[in-house]
Amino acid sequence: MPSYALTINGAPRTVTAAADTPLIYVLRNDLKLTGTRLGCGLSQCGSCAVLADGKEIRSCSTPVSRLVGKKIHTVEGLPGLWAGKKGIPETADTLHPIQTAWIEEQVPQCGYCQSGMMMAAADLLGRNPNPTLAQVKDAFTNTPPSPHLCRCGTYNGIAAAVLKAAKLMRA
Ligand code: FES
Ligand code: FES
Repeated sequence: MPSYALTINGAPRTVTAAADTPLIYVLRNDLKLTGTRLGCGLSQCGSCAVLADGKEIRSCSTPVSRLVGKKIHTVEGLPGLWAGKKGIPETADTLHPIQTAWIEEQVPQCGYCQSGMMMAAADLLGRNPNPTLAQVKDAFTNTPPSPHLCRCGTYNGIAAAVLKAAKLMRA
């Protein structure tokens, strides 16, 4: 089987996998990064979202062979992403403002969808540091390939947390 040199959460990782292996299996099974959750497996729910060069991708349907040369970030990499942006050392207590906002707004219920939601927030706030509520709703609903779905219905909490995170990131 071929090997692929990937950059995951700022660190070089080499994985051996068939070319069409979806990234999520490499993340969860080989690299033990289990914060990324498998939901539908069909690009239709968003629970598996990660960032590739800052843009959300669905790891359930993106082959590992397509990600060579891209900077992949999972939910575990959010603190490091923020520390790098601010030029500060990452410690065990470092949180990305998105995580802080999610905690302060007490967004999750079962939690299954939430890492994908936070990665979608990171994508949006990377493109638009000061979104309106309508833009937040639009991003989570109308950005291809599908809306981000939450079976527990935490949508209002998510929207509030994204707006709070935007404020924290601009401070
Ligand atoms: S598990 Fe990837 S979009 Fe649902
Ligand atoms: S918090 Fe349960 S699916 Fe979203």
